[in-house]
Amino acid sequence: MTLMSRVREHAYTVVENEAVGDGIWRMVFSAPELAGSLEPGQFMNFLVPGAKQILRVPLSFASADAESGTVEVIYAVVGDATRALTGMAAGESSSVLGPSGNGWRVREGQGRSVVVGGGVGAPPAVAAAGLLAKKGVAFDGVLGAQTASKLWGVERLGELGAGLALATTDDGSFGIKGFTTDALRELLSQGDYDTVYTCGPQVMMRGIAAICREAGIKCQVSMERMMSCGFGACNTCNVLMADGTYKSCCMNGPVFDAEEVAW
Ligand SMILES: Cc1cc2nc3c(=O)[nH]c(=O)nc-3n(C[C@H](O)[C@H](O)[C@H](O)COP(=O)(O)OP(=O)(O)OC[C@H]3O[C@@H](n4cnc5c(N)ncnc54)[C@H](O)[C@@H]3O)c2cc1C
Ligand code: FES
Repeated sequence: MTLMSRVREHAYTVVENEAVGDGIWRMVFSAPELAGSLEPGQFMNFLVPGAKQILRVPLSFASADAESGTVEVIYAVVGDATRALTGMAAGESSSVLGPSGNGWRVREGQGRSVVVGGGVGAPPAVAAAGLLAKKGVAFDGVLGAQTASKLWGVERLGELGAGLALATTDDGSFGIKGFTTDALRELLSQGDYDTVYTCGPQVMMRGIAAICREAGIKCQVSMERMMSCGFGACNTCNVLMADGTYKSCCMNGPVFDAEEVAW
């Protein structure tokens, strides 16, 4: 099987699509075959009706339910295509490519872990929490945002069984005032952890990776790159590796071991 053969085109039909914060939206859509085949940490590429750009929009997911055939995505409205996505009402359909890329990995016998999400890195962090819960691995979680109105997912971490579900905001409007890196340092000073799973702005993930390296803890990162095709054909999504080579974010990632990446 080639890597590309996993990616298929599916029809998706919007079930719910509503604002859950300031410029942060939650969409639940129905696509039964896709919902049954997605693995936490993978992503999809959406065709959005009414968007001026011809490129599809890559989005991760927070949860997928094979039984109901639905997938939940959380997205920030940053430009033309994501604005057009907010206009899709329940019942509207379009096309989505997926499952794309490689997701989070969990080892046999893995010890207590931490998920860390920043901004719209929260959905794949929540998906990592769901995976850890399913595998019976104890975990804590930290989700951060600029301000309370842009924060999503902290309650969900609790529902998934996080021992500690911490929130940070840059302005102190909710949870701990500061960055997710501050909260992770605090957690690591108080207990033993095996693996950290993180997704967020590059600068945040660089900081998380450095903290994990210092502490001798394994770290997986979900990288974001501009993606033109999303299935390995265009080379726009290259990630520079520590050994000087490049890997594609869409096919080899988006999840990498932090040690592999040139920060
Ligand atoms: C693997 C992957 C998973 C993602 N998951 C999510 C998610 O779960 N939720 C979410 O809100 N966003 C996610 N993104 C980012 C999302 O794809 C972009 O925000 C979106 O494509 C912007 O499209 P636009 O037309 O609205 O904005 P544009 O007008 O195209 O761009 C607006 C801004 O967003 C930046 N941008 C555009 N495309 C991308 C891109 N592919 N990656 C990073 N930044 C981009 C631009 O540099 C610009 O600053 C993900 C991106 C990748 C690569
Ligand atoms: S987006 Fe085209 S190769 Fe990755």
